[in-house]
Amino acid sequence: MTNPIEISFSETNIDVFAETTGVVAVTVTPDGKLDPSARRVNKLTRGALARVIESDSWEKAKSGDLITLAYPTGMEAKSVSIVKTERRPQVEVARKAGAALAKVKGDDPLLFAAGTLGRVEEAALAIALRNYAFTDHKTDESKIPGAVEIMCSKPGEAAEAYAPKAAVAEGVFFTRDLVTEPANVLTTTEFANRVSALSDLGLEIEILEEDQMAELGMDALLGVGIGSESPSKIAIMNWKGGGDEAPLALVGKGVVFDTGGISLKPAGGMEDMTMDMGGAGVVAGVMKAIALRKAKANVVGLIGLVENMPDGRAQRPGDVVKSMKGDTIEVINTDAEGRLVLCDVLWYAQETFAPRGVIDLATLTGAIIIGLGHENAGVFSNDDTLANQFLKAADAEGEGAWRMPLGAAYDKMLKSHVADMKNVGGRAAGSITAAQFLQRFIKDDMPWIHLDIAGVASVKSETALAPKGATGWGVMTLDRLVRDLCEEE
Ligand code: BES
Ligand code: MN
Ligand code: ZN
Repeated sequence: MTNPIEISFSETNIDVFAETTGVVAVTVTPDGKLDPSARRVNKLTRGALARVIESDSWEKAKSGDLITLAYPTGMEAKSVSIVKTERRPQVEVARKAGAALAKVKGDDPLLFAAGTLGRVEEAALAIALRNYAFTDHKTDESKIPGAVEIMCSKPGEAAEAYAPKAAVAEGVFFTRDLVTEPANVLTTTEFANRVSALSDLGLEIEILEEDQMAELGMDALLGVGIGSESPSKIAIMNWKGGGDEAPLALVGKGVVFDTGGISLKPAGGMEDMTMDMGGAGVVAGVMKAIALRKAKANVVGLIGLVENMPDGRAQRPGDVVKSMKGDTIEVINTDAEGRLVLCDVLWYAQETFAPRGVIDLATLTGAIIIGLGHENAGVFSNDDTLANQFLKAADAEGEGAWRMPLGAAYDKMLKSHVADMKNVGGRAAGSITAAQFLQRFIKDDMPWIHLDIAGVASVKSETALAPKGATGWGVMTLDRLVRDLCEEE
């Protein structure tokens, strides 16, 4: 398990700067105003800081950027960074600065003398998030990263503002670990075990096993897992922090590995399908975050855990399965398995919890990567109000999200000759027909969002707040949406 680094807040004490080892950072405003911390660093370095802020590089630097001096004379520090920022930065600027500091910090200790800087908790969040490294399977002795201390004018207030952010960071790390974990470690059983451990935080956990799901008629979900040695499961995480109002339901695709099944995927890049439980990972991360910060909201998370394997008993192309809802599905392609899992979990969620709304997350289609790349998740919704609230939250958290269309003409593409529908609609509009398939399992008037996160759950190059690999995309946005939707009323 990877834990975010501890961040402590203290009163400014410029007398320790000279002897501090590791990385030291101070702030300077774009118009070149030095606070007492920057003045002390300038004095210790015999004017080096002043020369930095007279340079072209400083002129060109944007708010949130920093310039780093290595092994400064007059200080014990390995480096001193000068952060260019307004005293009252935008969230984006505070986070950009934090992420930049995290990169300079590496495994060294960091002393950030932020003075009267606003939104210092956002800078702290970015330091924590950008400092992620998954080392559970590295056998060389892992380094113990140096601590982070932030000196500021109101350390008590800053610590208080940071506490809920730290909860979100823990949720994001939980998601990233799950997404990164290989499929021989993170089996369906192991995933369910890790979710079960969240009961320590006050979440009510229930695991549905194959016999129970068979009883409920979930043959669409069960069909996907038939070829695997790992038993299919649904894990339910219930957070009852609100009153007696209906919960918001979060539903996640948890395919712990997707070989494609009998419609086998090509070998090249198949190892990436270890992240095909990304939707379930985000749901688990959000549930952990809201439990840690004891959200005054009712939210239930449900994740369908299966493994899609080819085998003598595996489901074949052409098979017809019946969903819990009662609709029959012709399985044209066993690699379009996510929707088969989600349709039964979505129906179960609505029948069991009568939620106020449903949001599902899934690494559902390669087509969404063709359409939106790795910058935005696809947002499909039957409810403009909910969709706009979601998009607003995503924008505020800097997580890319783009609305995609739904419509009857796309739905028609799922027509089957032998069953009520088929599980693929052809090459055209592949992400939209996948969403149409899911919508068939959403009750009339149930506000619903489907998030296709295939392009954003795990990426090959670093992002604003994450090194390359698992991003935890969506945890911050959904945490905010829970606050906006359920806690502010
Ligand atoms: N898990 C994949 C989608 C995916 C692709 C996720 C790339 C992350 C990165 C999904 O189960 C899948 O195989 N989808 C097929 C659907 C097709 C058979 C209709 C696809 O996108 O090719
Ligand atoms: Mn697939
Ligand atoms: Zn898949």
